[in-house]
Amino acid sequence: MLNGLLTLRGAWDVVRQDPILKFMVVAVTSYGMVTFEGPMMSLKSFNGLVHYTDYIVGHVHNGALGWNGMLTFGILYWMLPRIYQTRLYSVSLANAHFWLATLGMVLYVISMYFSGFVQGLMWKQVEPDGFLTYRDFLETVIHIVPLYWIRALGGVIYILGVLIMIYNLVKTMSQGKLLEQEPAQVPQSIVEFEGHPESIFAVVHRNLEKMPIPFIVATFVAAAAGGILELVPAVLLEKIAPTQALVTPYRPLELEGRDIYVREGCYTCHSQMVRPFISEKIRYGDPSLAGEFVYDHPFQWGSKRIGPDLHRVGGKYSNAWHYNHMVDPTSTSPGSIMPAYAFMAERALDTSLTKRKLEVMSMLGVPYTQENIDQAVTDLKQQAEEIALDLQSNGVAALADTEIIALIAYLQKLGIRIEEKK
Ligand code: HEC
Repeated sequence: MLNGLLTLRGAWDVVRQDPILKFMVVAVTSYGMVTFEGPMMSLKSFNGLVHYTDYIVGHVHNGALGWNGMLTFGILYWMLPRIYQTRLYSVSLANAHFWLATLGMVLYVISMYFSGFVQGLMWKQVEPDGFLTYRDFLETVIHIVPLYWIRALGGVIYILGVLIMIYNLVKTMSQGKLLEQEPAQVPQSIVEFEGHPESIFAVVHRNLEKMPIPFIVATFVAAAAGGILELVPAVLLEKIAPTQALVTPYRPLELEGRDIYVREGCYTCHSQMVRPFISEKIRYGDPSLAGEFVYDHPFQWGSKRIGPDLHRVGGKYSNAWHYNHMVDPTSTSPGSIMPAYAFMAERALDTSLTKRKLEVMSMLGVPYTQENIDQAVTDLKQQAEEIALDLQSNGVAALADTEIIALIAYLQKLGIRIEEKK
């Protein structure tokens, strides 16, 4: 980042006039911020505050909109006139794009950084008497809804800028003529070209480039190193101390419910990972353990909490609560921003693949017996009947063969450990 900014030293008057350089300055600045935050987030106490919050959304959009976006725009404005042997159709439109992109990015990113800190702090705040200050998760959501509107506004402004760029570039292309064949004389190395002495790295790199096979091998080794370093301890650990299963495998109906959970993207708003913090233990219950995820293929840990963590939701509410909440979240949680899933109370559950799904899970190491697999649909129907009966006796006119029943079965299974079932 410093190399980038210092390259522009003494040329700020050019930056003022040239939209391309302006894009580059913002891109390089965002790059610096984002790559500073990355290592910051590897620190435990900082991560404990910002993980699962909108801070992460702010961070990655600083990278996507600020760093990568601005860089891409700048490069396109530079390249296309050259490829089409003409001038940029409109410098003032490019300037307008620059200001829209910057404004949009800043609104988006600042609102999310802010929202993330507010969320993180509200989740964690505990009173001296040991109760959470914000016991109802929804309180923390309603607090940040205005920031979501600012984020949406920022995004719209940013996209508006992109549309202006597309118009400008299309106009540029149509006024020019495509350069089909580049002239052969390309400088060997940018560094040489600018008259700087070549660094040892540049020399090694340039020579390696002339040897494709060693270059591929070297690249592969470099890229694989990190992966291997992560993989080896994980594999060895599993040998030394195999994960103990703390849960029973999903029953067929629960497995179908889980697939609906994945299909509907519930994991985009809900995590399933209670972290070992006092505030999370009070809010959700015991921290999650590895042995509770042994039958999850793939796991549903999630990465973002717009709604509360769901790992300990099993048994927390009645079936009827889940039914009403899913059909209309505001009926149980006034002000909720969770979407309604009323259609699931009508749509019939597809059981044509249930047996096959158990077979696949069994291939992946879930200890289903042949009998479990053969009886899959029978067992599914039986569990669905039980839940439907319970719902009906609580005044909910539910149909046993609908998708919502499967989802309720799955939610009620979450976080129930073997020893607790006794
Ligand atoms: C747009 C984000 C969003 C999506 C998508 C979403 N939820 Fe939610 N969910 C929320 C919010 C916010 C709350 C807290 C307010 C409430 O209770 O409705 C919540 C609450 C819940 C709760 C109550 C948890 C508790 O401990 O009180 C359950 C259960 C739940 N959601 C299940 C689901 C399921 C199942 C899906 C997918 C079918 C889903 N959610 C999809 C945002 C979302």
